[in-house]
This record gives sequence, structure tokens and C-alpha cells, in this order.
Amino acid sequence: MRVLGVETSCDETAVAIVEAPAEGGPGGTILANVVYSQLTEHRRFGGVVPEIAARAHLERIDGLVMDALAEARLGLADLDGIAATGGPGLIGGVLVGVMTAKALAFAHDKPFLAINHLEGHALSVRLTEDVDFPYLLLLVSGGHCQLLTVRGPGDFTRLGTTIDDAVGECFDKTAKLLGLGFPGGPAVEAAAKGGDPQRFALPRPMWRKPGCDFSFSGLKTAVRQTVEKLPAQDAQAVADLCASFQRTVGDVLADRCANALSLAPSPTLVVAGGVAANIYLRGRLETLAAAHGARLVAPPIKLCTDNGAMIAWAGIERLRLGKTDGLDFRPRPRWPLDPSTAVRV
Ligand code: KG4
Ligand code: ZN
Repeated sequence: MRVLGVETSCDETAVAIVEAPAEGGPGGTILANVVYSQLTEHRRFGGVVPEIAARAHLERIDGLVMDALAEARLGLADLDGIAATGGPGLIGGVLVGVMTAKALAFAHDKPFLAINHLEGHALSVRLTEDVDFPYLLLLVSGGHCQLLTVRGPGDFTRLGTTIDDAVGECFDKTAKLLGLGFPGGPAVEAAAKGGDPQRFALPRPMWRKPGCDFSFSGLKTAVRQTVEKLPAQDAQAVADLCASFQRTVGDVLADRCANALSLAPSPTLVVAGGVAANIYLRGRLETLAAAHGARLVAPPIKLCTDNGAMIAWAGIERLRLGKTDGLDFRPRPRWPLDPSTAVRV
């Protein structure tokens, strides 16, 4: 079974083709994986500009589909389905991806699969790692921070979420305040390498509170106040603050995951989403999981941030179950994984 996946919900235009046995289970082969990162378009604004993103997706998407097919040495007739991120995300970009995938599916008479971007992240670990359902998932990205039990495609129970900012957003803000550039996560991680993680005591919102919810706005404010007091041109102070910030985030994530593992015991803790690319945080979660008799599993670093392979893989998991979508599917700017939580954040 071969599925082409299109991802356009934020600032990466990405297309991939993934192959896997039709009968089910983890493990797939990435036949092509092409990404056009719009970093240079957005860098001078210090963040993603939705209108610019939508136009850039439109300019690139057809060429990237052709590139992916060429890389995989396949034609559209060789595919079993066409998947695209159907939301949540910046709606202009999602429209570009969905319309492209629908047109390909219609013209070549293939099933169309609308993938929830968060489900793409949530299932991505099974593309490369031997992980069976159910598992506990910490989903940490630029727009989300959630703990969920994952039972299968479209079958999620949310245990907790952030009541304000996402953790990736907090990394991006910290980098911006320190002039480290965009996106902030990799920049903060690199700067933290030579830093003292104990130098700055920052608040740990929700730490040791019951439940599995998160909060990051107080930490963001504390970082801003600390940056304002830092001596100018002090590279060591910047490194120390990044290391202290990262440790604080690690404390909070570990504490919340500990509660989740107690409330919904699982032999496997999965971390996914852009922030899962952070080696320090992976280490902290590995220690935490081991203390609870569980193992931490994460996708390879380059499949943590947005990519088409995770959308193609989620497409395979859905196609196996016959969960295809009609060409009347409407892109969804908001789309919770656990519908019972739709009235909340
Ligand atoms: O999953 P993703 O690519 O896009 C969303 O769906 O949001 O996540 C992007 C986020 C950004 O906030 C970025 O700064 C963060 O993931 N990120 C990292 C690292 N690499 C990317 N955060 C911490 N450490 C990293 N190495
Ligand atoms: Zn994402």
C-alpha cells in the first residue's frame, strides 16, 4: 500500500510517499520525503505570516508533488491513496494542500484522506518504531501541548492540555527575546549547551499540581523579565538562561507525564511534535518513563517537525481501516483529536 501525503498547515510545504503492508501494524518505508521550508520568507517578521505562507504553499506544491514522484520513481497510478492535512492550522495553507490532494485523487480516481495534523504527529512514531496501540502520548509542538491516550486512528482520550501557551511557542518567544532567531527551539537548544541550568530559578507553572494540564504563560513572562535585567553582550548569561529555561520546561513536562502515567498507566510513553526534537527533553522523559517502568519512544529527529511522511503514514493507517473522506471535506482551522473536549481549549 502506497500513500502520498501533503502537509501545508504552517510554514513547511511538504510532500512524501510512504509504503507499508496493507494488513496493518507498525513499520513503513519512506519512498520520498521532500520539504520546502519557508524560513527565509518569514524570518524577517520573526514569525509565520499566514498570507505569505499560503502564497508560498501555492507556488511550490505542484513542483514538490512532481519531485516526490520522481524521487520514488512512481507515477500517480501506482498510488493507493492521496492524503493531506485537513486541519487544524493556518487555513489558507490547509486549503492549498487539501485542494491539491482532492484534485489528484479525483483526476486519478484514488481515495482521498483528510488527516488531522495532530493525528499525523500522534501516529508518526509507528512509521519507524515498533509501537503498538494503546500508548500514552505527549504531543509538544508550536501550537499544542497535550497528553493523550492513543488507541488508534481517530481514537484518542485527552488527559490534559495547556490552559494558555504551547511549549514550542515558549521556546520561540525565548529565542526572540534573546535575539537568537527563528524558529526558536533549535536555537535555544544549541545556546543551552554551554550554559548553567541552575543559574536562573524560573517558575514552574502547574508543577506538582494534580491532573495533566500545562501552563506556560507565567514562564514566558519570567523569561522576559530576566532578559530585561541581563547585562548586554553577555554570551554566558544567554547560555545560562537558555539552559535554565530548558531545565524548567523539562521539570514541568516530566511532572505532568508522571501524573499521566499514574492516572493512565502505559508501558510506552511516546513524545512527538516539533519540541520532541529536543535531545535534552528526550533525556528527561526517558528517565521519567524508566522510573515508572515504561519506555520512552520518539520518532527520528527529522520526523518530529512538520513533514509529509507523517501525513502519508496516518493516511495508510486510515486507509487500512477504510476511513477515507469525501471530496466534499471542508478544511478545519480547529479540529480537536478528542471530540469530547471540543468545548474546551
Ligand atoms: O510540529 P512543528 O514542526 O509545528 C507545529 O505543528 O507547531 O513544531 C514546531 C515547534 C516550534 O515552536 C519550534 O521552535 C519547536 O517545534 N522545535 C523545538 C526544537 N525543534 C523545533 N523546540 C525545542 N527544541 C528543539 N530542538
Ligand atoms: Zn506540527
